[in-house]
Order: sequence, then C-alpha cells, then structure tokens
Amino acid sequence: MNSPISRRINIAIDGPAGAGKSTVARLVAGALHYIYIDTGAMYRALTLRALEAGLTADDIERVSLLAERLDISLLPGPEGQRVFADGEDVGSRIRSLVVNRNVSHFAKIERVRSRMAALQRTMAQQKGVVMDGRDIGTHVLPDAELKIFLTASSRVRAERRYSELGENPGVTLEQLERDIAQRDRIDQEREIAPLLRASDARLVDSSGRTAEQVADEIVQWGLAIARTILAEEK
Ligand code: DC
Repeated sequence: MNSPISRRINIAIDGPAGAGKSTVARLVAGALHYIYIDTGAMYRALTLRALEAGLTADDIERVSLLAERLDISLLPGPEGQRVFADGEDVGSRIRSLVVNRNVSHFAKIERVRSRMAALQRTMAQQKGVVMDGRDIGTHVLPDAELKIFLTASSRVRAERRYSELGENPGVTLEQLERDIAQRDRIDQEREIAPLLRASDARLVDSSGRTAEQVADEIVQWGLAIARTILAEEK
C-alpha cells in the first residue's frame, strides 16, 4: 500500500534505551505505510552471535570480521519486526539480559558501526523508512527529512524495560534502572557516533504520554513535511 502522501520521506528517531522509540516508530511506520527499521536489533543480533561464538567486546578483530560477514535481515512479522541472523530467526533471544548487558560494548567497535551504518543506509535508499537508533539523525541518515530525539525519565524507561522481561525478570527494577543509566553512559561517551541529539532534531519527551499520542504528533509532522516538499517540487 502507498503512503497517504505520494512524496515519501525518511524519519529518524533517536534516543536512549526505553524511551519508547521502537513502539512509536512502529506506529508511525504503520500510519504512513512506511518500513520500520529497528537498528538496535541489528546490534543485538551481532552481540548474540558474538557471545555464542565465545567472543568478548575486546576481541575487536574477530568481532569486526563476524559483523562484516554476518547476514542480518529485518522482516515485518505478525508481532512487529522479525530479526534474522544468517537466516535464523533470533528475535526472541536478542532481548535477553545477557545481550542487554553486553550490546553497548560491542556497539562501540568501529568496524561494527560502519558495517551496520552501511546496511542501514542501503535499507533507507528508497525513502519511506522510519529508522530508530542512537546515531540515525546524526550519522546514518543526516539528510533525513524529519528527525526526532525521543526521551523519557530514567525511571519510566526502566519500568518499560522491566515489563518487557516477562514473569521472571531475573533482575529488580532498581538494578534495571542502574543498567540503563550505565548503558546510556556508554552510548553517550563512545568515540564513534555517540548518542547525541542532532541540532535539527525535534525533542520529544514521552514520560506521561502514550505511544499513540507521541506517534500521532510525529505522523502529523511527517505529513506536513512531505506536503511541503511535494509542493516545492511542483
Ligand atoms: O535500542 P536498543 O536498546 O535495542 O539498542 C541496543 C544497543 O545498541 C544500545 O545500547 C546501543 C546500541 N545501538 C547503537 O549503538 N546505535 C544504534 N543506531 C542502535 C543501537
């Protein structure tokens, strides 16, 4: 199906863990008939594969080679996005506690980042994508027509992640809040493409708002931008 407006744009949604990026991005993509790309899932799939191979984030050469040859694909599924690593559906395993705790260390590696960014740019070439991550507006798609920096208080973010872990979370809410704060720090302080608000990104705080309310606001902005570009091109 086509977008409600024939001129398609790219939408970048960045922000810290648990801000609601993936839920909001999925809703926005659904409303506009765009493709949703969860770039965190790509770093998670790589981390899972590296851990399974017995690698740590200090094995930079071997992790880089793994990233460069790993086939990662994202396909729409009945419950959101399905994630495949070398053809295997890894969707349920990439959200585990062990992946949560390791992913930001693997995501610091330069060749891992350049491989993921190259894959992500290819996915966005045809326009009409909503891509969420940490460096999309600043680094992967600096020309995205609409950039959002989505955030929420660290408590709200921890509560959201806690509910994702199901009946036996294996961690307390307080521990999760500390883990999230630690992950934010690593993501913000890394040398390559750190988590940073692009100067032209719109700041949106999702605390106390539903994902639907936030998504609706972004959809309206997206439609307005697409209309303006269409009018200018005529
Ligand atoms: O969005 P998420 O929590 O699934 O992301 C998992 C990790 O991947 C996060 O700690 C940082 C990293 N990441 C990144 O460095 N760059 C991206 N574009 C997306 C995620």
